[in-house]
Amino acid sequence: MLGCENIMNKWFVDNSTKETIKIIPVVTENFVAWLKEQAEPVRKWIELNSFTAKSGEYCLILEKNHVALNYVLLGVADADDDWAFGDLARKLPIGVYEILAKDWSVEQLERATIAWGLGSYCFAKYKKTEELRTSLFLQNSLNRDYVINFVEAICWARDLINMPNHDLGPEELTVASHDLAKEFSADMRQIIGGDLLKENFPGVYAVGKGSLSLPRLIELRWGNNKKAPLLTLIGKGVCFDSGGWDIKPSPHMRNMKDDMAGAAHVLALARLIMQANLPVRLHVILPVVENLLAVNSYKPGDILTMRNGKTVEIFDTDAEGRLILADALTYACEEKPDLLMDFATLTGSARVALGEEITAMFTPDHEVAHAIGVSAALEKEPLWRMPLYEPYLKSLESSIADFYNCSGSRYGGSITAALFLQQFIEPKISWVHFDLASWNEKSKPGRPEGGDVLFLRGLFKYLQERFSHSV
Ligand code: BES
Ligand code: ZN
Ligand code: ZN
Repeated sequence: MLGCENIMNKWFVDNSTKETIKIIPVVTENFVAWLKEQAEPVRKWIELNSFTAKSGEYCLILEKNHVALNYVLLGVADADDDWAFGDLARKLPIGVYEILAKDWSVEQLERATIAWGLGSYCFAKYKKTEELRTSLFLQNSLNRDYVINFVEAICWARDLINMPNHDLGPEELTVASHDLAKEFSADMRQIIGGDLLKENFPGVYAVGKGSLSLPRLIELRWGNNKKAPLLTLIGKGVCFDSGGWDIKPSPHMRNMKDDMAGAAHVLALARLIMQANLPVRLHVILPVVENLLAVNSYKPGDILTMRNGKTVEIFDTDAEGRLILADALTYACEEKPDLLMDFATLTGSARVALGEEITAMFTPDHEVAHAIGVSAALEKEPLWRMPLYEPYLKSLESSIADFYNCSGSRYGGSITAALFLQQFIEPKISWVHFDLASWNEKSKPGRPEGGDVLFLRGLFKYLQERFSHSV
């Protein structure tokens, strides 16, 4: 299986036979008072190193004889400053470490541990990188599976997003899905190429038909308790988005191998759900394509009759994600899921509005929006609810079809995209759409440059709370 193979040595140890090197967090605000209480040689050493306990700043304290590391001081803004731990795995000297924060809760320790684990990641498939020299001792109080599963799921998704298109096209995304299905004995099915038309997925077919790698719809089903609630997850799997005939300018095309991040998020989330044995019937739907410029690619002005019978005039071939999602959403609604969520790197507008870290959430369901918002806040994950502002639907009106696939306006693009998707949802179904942030332009602690999953823990927590006792 792909994923985590880049963590060359394991980032954690369960049983440390060796003495661990303690990492002692010092809250920035308390630093001056704390320093006064230290023995003089230590105080002098800290001053000599100009350590001021700023978030993420660390100071190595040596043994008296100066031949070994005694402990590490780490500056943290407060006990919730997880990312302060994000750079340690790859920066500290060789050794087995342990976080020593006596008054921290288990949750705070777990989050710090996850940040450490995420910081140990390096996408090393195409470049020799320094081996990991550190590992973190997982104390017994921590929920070991929870912490490890999260780090692995996120690193797996990062690998998938970071892989270049020639090594992660529709076929390879199928292999990744198949590996996951096999690991958890889930059923998997695929509808490929021309069969998409036979089975009535015209949007998926139209967007992907211009590629030699055939478009497809991948489906996973897991959980066979008929009484369990049906949870359906849909992920945009555009393995490369050139824009098609409305070709993107080069700077905008540069990272478009990441346009399958929605599918990667769904695979990571599905993995967590199956690992935790959440009592749900899980239905994963990944429409997977490449949006390329070929003689037979779909073109501006084409009119598609979608799975639900609605007609869509193509205003711009670069607004392809919503077309493949639309058919998948219609299909999902046919089984009346208890909760339907889709994940997509759908619009540049969401990035313009919220920047590269914050995921945009759209849903007409206030209760679900509130609960997910609370879980995200508890997990310190950046999420912002955006409005499904109906008057903007006007901008999708075509005179010769039911809708355009996008509006001609530069404004409110993530909202009109979400409104477009909503046209394919059965009114009574609880639906949430995430317009994802999935790419770090620059490395940040725990979040190396490249593909990333920035909103998953809060969502998983929400699902656990909602569904754990559902059967
Ligand atoms: N994959 C892009 C959206 C995107 C852009 C995600 C940049 C992440 C970073 C999507 O398919 C797209 O091209 N959207 C267009 C829509 C427009 C043509 C209406 C956009 O947002 O510019
Ligand atoms: Zn596009
Ligand atoms: Zn796209």
